[in-house]
Amino acid sequence: YRNLKIALLGAGNVGAQVAQLLDEHGDELASRVGAGLELIGIAVRDVDADRTANIDRSLLTTDAESLILSADIVIELMGGIEPARTYILQALHSGADVVTGNKALLALHGPELFEAAEQVGAQLYYEAAAGGAIPIIRPLRDSLAGDRVKRILGIVNGTTNYILDRMDVNGDTLDEALALATDLGYAESDPTADIGGFDAAQKAAILARLAFHSAVPVESVYREGITGVTAEQVEQARRSGYVVKLLAICERVTDPVTGAEGISARVHPALVSRLHPLAAVHGAKNAVFVEAEAAGDLMFYGAGAGGLETASAVLGDLVSAARRHVAGGPGVAESFTAHLPILGIGKVHTRYQITLEVA
Ligand code: HSE
Repeated sequence: YRNLKIALLGAGNVGAQVAQLLDEHGDELASRVGAGLELIGIAVRDVDADRTANIDRSLLTTDAESLILSADIVIELMGGIEPARTYILQALHSGADVVTGNKALLALHGPELFEAAEQVGAQLYYEAAAGGAIPIIRPLRDSLAGDRVKRILGIVNGTTNYILDRMDVNGDTLDEALALATDLGYAESDPTADIGGFDAAQKAAILARLAFHSAVPVESVYREGITGVTAEQVEQARRSGYVVKLLAICERVTDPVTGAEGISARVHPALVSRLHPLAAVHGAKNAVFVEAEAAGDLMFYGAGAGGLETASAVLGDLVSAARRHVAGGPGVAESFTAHLPILGIGKVHTRYQITLEVA
């Protein structure tokens, strides 16, 4: 069958994992798609830079523009606003579908990019842009498209959740916990984006747009980080049956004065009852709690960061994009291609009993 040409822009933490997983599982993914997935090049700033990741150096190029022009699907994982924005627009105008994990770019230039995609009949996929490995974009965009979302409560920044969790469970001060988060590689060397709530605000803008089908510029998201949270406040909350979490909150609200319907999107520390499922989100994990009119409460939980974890979301998008290319439709989305036998039918295996421990 035909080969789809894939261009990768960026070979950082996530990009390198995407290249490696494509190399390892390319044949299996191809059978799910109904077409080969050929990585034709990886655009980087410096071909000779030191790289620990095990990627095929012959694929590296600094000529992103030529690479984009030859591709059916472009995966943008370089981050930052420019040149990522220009490259994505070039890809869309050349008829390629685009997969991106660039939350800052989507939060700032989302409307422009989605409009460009619509104009040329291309698709922009961004499951990796909020919640890392957690499938949350598709559930909001597709699975819940027939419902009405009332509210989203998200723990969408792993660094701050790790810090607040350390303060709660171990009695650390904010500075002690931040130092640990930096050592573990959760926080950036300049952690302002995390502890200042900027990263969470970008994700809130993306989630609110999907949930409420309205433009939500990132500047309209109220933002307060965790820098003012003290060990005493965390301890007091604990004694009252609460835990302090940095929440991204997106909800339908009514203006108390005019009665007009609207949206509130905000990021700030909040007191969460220890009985609420979000209180059980420990360490650097993320979770998104969705309250929908018909579906009721739903919770999506998992790794919000990490190269390998986020690569999972990127490859899921790649498979979706590739399926769209095959026969211009869903491809072999619902067919059975792995032919694995069912084992253990008709017997009760005591070894299938499981004991769940809290991690
Ligand atoms: N710095 C982010 C976090 C990375 O801590 O969640 C994922 O966007």
